[in-house]
Amino acid sequence: MMISETSKGKFITMEGIDGAGKSTHLNWLADFFRSRGKTVVVTREPGGTRLGERLRELLLDNYQTMHGETEALLMFAARREHLDKVIVPALDQGNWVISDRFTDASFAYQGGGRGLPIQKLEVLEHWVQGLFQPDLTLYLDVTVELGRQRTSAIKTADRFEKERDEFFQRVRECYLERARKFPQRIRVINANLPLEQVNKSIEETIISFCK
Ligand code: TYD
Repeated sequence: MMISETSKGKFITMEGIDGAGKSTHLNWLADFFRSRGKTVVVTREPGGTRLGERLRELLLDNYQTMHGETEALLMFAARREHLDKVIVPALDQGNWVISDRFTDASFAYQGGGRGLPIQKLEVLEHWVQGLFQPDLTLYLDVTVELGRQRTSAIKTADRFEKERDEFFQRVRECYLERARKFPQRIRVINANLPLEQVNKSIEETIISFCK
């Protein structure tokens, strides 16, 4: 595994249940860094590469059924490609990389949501990324009810969005549990508030991270 330990750029990930508002805040965050002279690469998971985007189509397709372990393996397969082709090269060039989701989503959705054992996901995590972790993860925390309201307003539900509330409850609990486990890396942002307030707390978190 050739992941440079001396990478100059920073790797920031955004997480949250569906409808938490990641996309809006992600774009704001990219502009924030660009206005401070950083070169920013914005990417997403599953996806971010040609192969990864094709895997994403299969993973989100409502008509595609698959075993929970297949789902996890495909998520990590897309991630392996993403690290190799996008994330690591960009960091090595000194760019800042912001990803809409990363490995925490596999623990939350495939672990919490689908009920796969955490140990199996940890094996995949170590296989695919060694000790590599984001420098900072912003977890946008919303209630399942609010997330549901925000997603249903936008578009037709994909294979994950059509899951029941209990699924998202488990996903949310798993994210919160990980935030307690890795308090240095994962910052919880209360995203139940109006947009400007959520933005403000993201800004505060980022400013203290950059110090
Ligand atoms: P999402 O990021 O919510 O994109 P959009 O805003 O276009 O709906 O969609 C990605 C979905 O993939 C989301 O429901 C969570 C899921 N997912 C996992 O289950 N495991 C993972 O490891 C990742 C990266 C995503």
